[in-house]
Amino acid sequence: MSLIAQFQPHTFSTIPEDGSVCWQSPSNIALVKYWGKHGQQLPRNASISFTLRNCHTTTALHYQKKEGNDFQFEVFLDGKREEGFEPKILKFFERVEPYFPFLRKYMFQIETSNSFPHSSGIASSASGMSALALCLLSIERSLTPEMTEDFFNQKASFIARLGSGSASRSISGPLVVWGTHPKVEGSNDLFGIEYPYPVHHRFKNYQDTILLVDKGEKQVSSTLGHDLMNDHPYAQNRFAEANKNLEKLQPIFEGGILSEFIKIVESEALQLHAMMLASDPSFILMKPNTLEIIQRIRTFREETGSNACFTLDAGANVHLLYPEFEKERVQDFIENQLKSLCANGEFIHDAAGMGAFKIG
Ligand code: PMV
Repeated sequence: MSLIAQFQPHTFSTIPEDGSVCWQSPSNIALVKYWGKHGQQLPRNASISFTLRNCHTTTALHYQKKEGNDFQFEVFLDGKREEGFEPKILKFFERVEPYFPFLRKYMFQIETSNSFPHSSGIASSASGMSALALCLLSIERSLTPEMTEDFFNQKASFIARLGSGSASRSISGPLVVWGTHPKVEGSNDLFGIEYPYPVHHRFKNYQDTILLVDKGEKQVSSTLGHDLMNDHPYAQNRFAEANKNLEKLQPIFEGGILSEFIKIVESEALQLHAMMLASDPSFILMKPNTLEIIQRIRTFREETGSNACFTLDAGANVHLLYPEFEKERVQDFIENQLKSLCANGEFIHDAAGMGAFKIG
């Protein structure tokens, strides 16, 4: 059976009248970045991320049988109706409908909340879309009790991907690969897999402090950014670089070689933003304080021999990554030298986590 065919649904003769499920699902931070896609949310290169622990979305999905054949749902954020989210959810429902035959049979209430402030500039699409995908899978599992854990996780990642590519990497943890790579067994474009090779204990419980530089809405959506890679003069080199970097990480993870890890992770972050700078039209998501923080991290490393390094998402915030054994000294550095460069002095301490879990 082809990988995609396995996710086609069974037909169910009866479905329950109503019910509720609830999942908590984390955000993730890519070490090798996904930037550029084709087809239905298929990546142009393989990527790898640390799943986060503290930045997460909790989504409860209530469902009740209804008449008619349309999609019916309402979205609530922190208890308040959020109609602004509904067009995105409708698009998601339309995309995933072939995999969930019950979708038009229910009226859904989607109650969602994030552990991080809504206006923090932290993208909630990875955690939000993965939480919703997991809720839908839980409904399917209640109708298909023989479903295995592996199938559940793979299909959840597959469905999350159709909402937001990076969401496919939020189901499990702490390291998830998404996208076909010849040197990573089991890797594929349809869903994320747990990184299958040895990881040195220096990378266990890796720390990520998110320095909130700019808490506004992104000026350029990641959808548009991905699209601009279709006709981009450096696209082919970039995709090849990402795949090379993922391969280079294998001995680094195994041997715990932090100095080499830093080189790759920082280069990936800068390449991502270099693609934005060189797009047509070009766009710049970094802010002056993004660059100032990057400089201070590099100086701190030179002066102290620390292994702290930065990475960036599609925004101005800086993720400061460091091993657990350096926690005290790096957190002092943040307080003394970086906090003042953050909007309202705000940052979020996070660390690599194990993925989503069901809470109801
Ligand atoms: O999942 P999307 O479509 O929002 O893309 C996000 C891409 C980056 O966050 C910039 C990189 C990544 O691999 O997560």
